Amino acid sequence: MEKLYVNLGERSYNIKFSSDFAGLPDAMAEINAPPKILIVTDTNVERLYADEVCALLKDNGYDAAAYAFEAGEEHKNMNSILGICNACIEHGLDRKSMIAALGGGVVGDMAGFAAAIFMRGIDFIQIPTTLLSQSDSSVGGKTGIDFAGSKNILGAFHQPRLVYINVNTLKTLPNEQFVSGMGEVIKHGIIRDAEFFDYLCENADTIKALDSDLLIRMAKTNCAIKADVVMHDERENGLRAILNFGHTIGHAVESAYDFQMTHGECVGIGMIGASYIAQKRGMITAYELKRIEDTLKLYGFRTRVKLPESDVVMGYMQKDKKKLMGKLKFVLPVKIGEVMQTTDVTQDEIYSAFDYIGGVS
Ligand SMILES: NC(=O)c1ccc[n+]([C@@H]2O[C@H](COP(=O)([O-])OP(=O)(O)OC[C@H]3O[C@@H](n4cnc5c(N)ncnc54)[C@H](O)[C@@H]3O)[C@@H](O)[C@H]2O)c1
Repeated sequence: MEKLYVNLGERSYNIKFSSDFAGLPDAMAEINAPPKILIVTDTNVERLYADEVCALLKDNGYDAAAYAFEAGEEHKNMNSILGICNACIEHGLDRKSMIAALGGGVVGDMAGFAAAIFMRGIDFIQIPTTLLSQSDSSVGGKTGIDFAGSKNILGAFHQPRLVYINVNTLKTLPNEQFVSGMGEVIKHGIIRDAEFFDYLCENADTIKALDSDLLIRMAKTNCAIKADVVMHDERENGLRAILNFGHTIGHAVESAYDFQMTHGECVGIGMIGASYIAQKRGMITAYELKRIEDTLKLYGFRTRVKLPESDVVMGYMQKDKKKLMGKLKFVLPVKIGEVMQTTDVTQDEIYSAFDYIGGVS
């Protein structure tokens, strides 16, 4: 089975890549997983995969049970965390027990946060089932919930003991969620790996057809890029912030659309806005900007959206928690495959980026 090692000292772990769940018990045996496991999932993923995973673990001697909270970002809150903690108590988990997060980024973030606080912290593993979680959120140890209108404002760094990726779960994923996940995938190419970006441009049809071997290759490259950044800067004191490429404007677009657009699609628009600023500064060429837009289009992204007045969008941006000493942080491409961070983007530059992405394509 394909695997990747995330080297974080005593918090190191493996990411395993497969086209089914069959190898999960062996992967858990390798980390000496305890017998008592609570599978935490959401109501959609529960219907699709919880029985299969729970039965597999029971057949291999684990005392496993599943708990599902209501699916959706709007349930990424403290009430759901309390529900998970309650299920931990009901299933008799103790400090040596383990949580298995089976689902997308919402499940991973919440199950991970519950694991970080239950009995002052128990182990957890990630079994991601969306493209976003298989290529990004399951790796890196950020866990948390939304609170008081701010995304991921409460949370903890808590690394999983194992990430087990079954790429074939993507076959049941709604298309808009696949497109959303591609936002983070394309982002990885732009920030760190020009060859991977080319690969995404050249293989769009086979990737969209969900060929298992290709999905494994894509997941492995994504996780390698994310893991490499995390290994350099686990707690986001510097380099890790490059993963926020597209997010400064993207989060404002998300707010402007009252979270009715998917996260990845907003990041896609945000990447175009940031790339436009970079092109106007002479950092990338008009051809590179066009390649970024064309690649997003290939995967079904909108590249222009109607926006409220610039002052309103700016207001959303100012609320972003990713500010440095009160200044907005931007990640701008220097070329495809490399980015830089800056806090010196002017209001005029930002407003012209709003005009650009808010224009009719
Ligand atoms: N921790 C991190 O580093 C990190 C990074 C990026 C994003 N995030 C977080 O990730 C979350 C978004 O994650 P997401 O995009 O995976 O959303 P999600 O977890 O809400 O999943 C999207 C939808 O797909 C459903 N679903 C999941 N797997 C499925 C499958 N295989 N088949 C059919 N339906 C399936 C879910 O029930 C949900 O309705 C956000 O809360 C974001 O803040 C975290």
